[in-house]
Amino acid sequence: MKKRGNLMTMNKIAAALTVLAALCLLAVVAVAQDDMVKIEGTAFGAPERPAAVFKHDEHNEKAKIEDCIVCHHGVDDKGKLAKGESSEGTPCADCHTVKGAKGTPLMRAYHRQCQGCHEKAGKGPNACGECHVRGK
Ligand code: HEC
Ligand code: HEC
Ligand code: HEC
Ligand code: HEC
Repeated sequence: MKKRGNLMTMNKIAAALTVLAALCLLAVVAVAQDDMVKIEGTAFGAPERPAAVFKHDEHNEKAKIEDCIVCHHGVDDKGKLAKGESSEGTPCADCHTVKGAKGTPLMRAYHRQCQGCHEKAGKGPNACGECHVRGK
């Protein structure tokens, strides 16, 4: 009986440590997206255009987008786009390759998501130089 009690305490400590580690990770991630002011596009190798401006949190507040899934959509076990699955923290390039071997190529994925919504909303930039701003 005593032994079992010790084991349970150990389990509780282990659980607490896991939660703590997860919280630390969340804090790091939150700072990262909060600090984001543009999309670097490192997956493109040597990009032709200046990185697109995108102040992550400020943009989403102004645009009143509350649901992360609107942009960070996720997939099911078969790799198909799935409603309700999100992928925040996973770069678009992890699923959308530059050449688009498995589906929508990376540049088109960004353009369709960003411009698609701006067109629909009748708000937000749609000219190249408004997103790919020189000297920013
Ligand atoms: C709504 C914002 C937006 C607009 C408008 C836009 N882009 Fe982009 N574009 C992006 C984002 C985001 C990426 C991902 C990488 C980055 O930030 O450069 C990208 C990537 C690219 C890339 C691949 C990376 C590179 O630089 O080689 C090219 C080329 C490009 N855009 C050209 C254009 C051209 C040409 C236009 C106008 C016809 C345009 N874009 C309009 C947001 C935009
Ligand atoms: C309007 C579209 C949009 C919305 C809404 C959005 N994000 Fe993002 N987020 C992006 C894009 C684009 C990137 C850059 C992805 C890349 O580099 O491939 C990004 C990057 C991130 C990153 C990685 C940070 C970094 O610096 O690499 C995290 C974490 C993240 N988002 C979390 C969230 C969370 C949490 C929410 C909801 C509260 C959210 N995002 C809502 C578009 C969005
Ligand atoms: C976990 C994998 C995954 C991530 C991460 C991901 N996507 Fe997708 N996306 C898919 C799949 C699967 C499809 C459906 C097949 C296709 O069109 O490539 C898709 C389709 C799309 C489409 C075309 C269909 C539509 O919704 O209009 C766009 C645009 C798109 N993704 C943009 C993005 C952007 C931008 C990001 C990053 C903010 C992103 N995706 C992150 C897996 C992903
Ligand atoms: C689901 C809708 C939606 C998506 C997706 C979206 N935007 Fe926007 N964006 C908006 C709206 C709405 C505004 C206008 C906000 C306002 O000022 O009222 C806007 C404004 C902007 C602006 C003007 C400055 C600012 O921050 O307000 C930039 C730059 C911009 N978007 C870049 C992007 C880029 C780059 C992407 C893709 C990574 C993107 N947006 C994806 C809805 C969206």
